[in-house]
Amino acid sequence: MTALETQGIAVTKIVIPAGEVNKNIESVQALWYGFLDASLERGSTVLALGGGVVGDLSGFAASTFMRGITWINVPTTLLAMVDASLGGKTGVDLPRGKNLVGAFYPPAFVLVDPNVLLTLPEVEIRTGMAEVIKHGIIGDPGLLEMCAGYRGEGELDKLITRAMAVKIRIIETDPYDKGERAALNLGHTVGHALELVSEYRLRHGEAVAIGMVVETRLAERLGLAEQGLSLHIASILAGINLPVDIPADLDRAAIRRAMGVDKKKSQGRICFSLPASLSRVLIGIDVPDDVLDAEI
Ligand SMILES: NC(=O)c1ccc[n+]([C@@H]2O[C@H](COP(=O)([O-])OP(=O)(O)OC[C@H]3O[C@@H](n4cnc5c(N)ncnc54)[C@H](O)[C@@H]3O)[C@@H](O)[C@H]2O)c1
Ligand SMILES: [Zn+2]
Repeated sequence: MTALETQGIAVTKIVIPAGEVNKNIESVQALWYGFLDASLERGSTVLALGGGVVGDLSGFAASTFMRGITWINVPTTLLAMVDASLGGKTGVDLPRGKNLVGAFYPPAFVLVDPNVLLTLPEVEIRTGMAEVIKHGIIGDPGLLEMCAGYRGEGELDKLITRAMAVKIRIIETDPYDKGERAALNLGHTVGHALELVSEYRLRHGEAVAIGMVVETRLAERLGLAEQGLSLHIASILAGINLPVDIPADLDRAAIRRAMGVDKKKSQGRICFSLPASLSRVLIGIDVPDDVLDAEI
């Protein structure tokens, strides 16, 4: 703030309470009123400094305030750096589900400084690594190997740059999520169901880690992926202390039901994004029930 003020830029700070429970329209309304109190005009700029929750909320508030004002995203979590800050999706949750209201509204730019991760709790780093590994599987085998040798936070800079590059490549090909961008959903069809059924005891990154392994096993069963791919992915995730198996106490039928309410559906069937090999994800795959029965 001081740096901006010394450049003669007037700055007003608006703080929003942390946590996914606050990613709602009430928080957006608080931001709109905050913008009015700060006398923002059409030419003003919103700078979102925080994790994915702050980015999604601030971007959505900026997209609608005075029919859209400029915003800049400065992500401060690993997940927000490699994933949430890229691709222009903004929005809020509704009581009936996550991210149900929003807009494509890209920031003017995204500024990433890995030094801010020094204060981020270890669990947030570990769970953010699940998305870094996902990007390695989707589009950068070299990144995946770097994750296999990951020994601690000192090595994050290079991982972040390469993980961002994979997402940027995909969103440039499919900015409005009409096709190829579905590859980014790898691990998330099963992952979202696990988050829900575990009542969020499993964190997003942990659920996605398990989801990636289970979905790769589905691909192996369908003959779409080479045998052994799931073991390879599981060993890299386990090396970072991420879980790779569905916890025994989670009700399998409930998981299957929860997968059925996934947003990524077409004509009532769930569309999976499954890895065929490293750097090749098949999208829109309909997995027969008996194959699902065998894995979940
Ligand atoms: N827009 C997209 O394309 C997209 C993609 C993926 C995820 N998301 C969204 O992102 C959200 C998750 O983001 P997240 O994982 O960043 O969680 P988050 O924003 O809730 O942040 C996690 C916690 O870390 C704290 N924090 C943030 N930066 C910190 C720092 N540098 N030091 C110490 N603490 C810090 C936050 O206050 C919070 O308590 C979800 O709402 C998800 O839907 C959006
Ligand atoms: Zn995710």
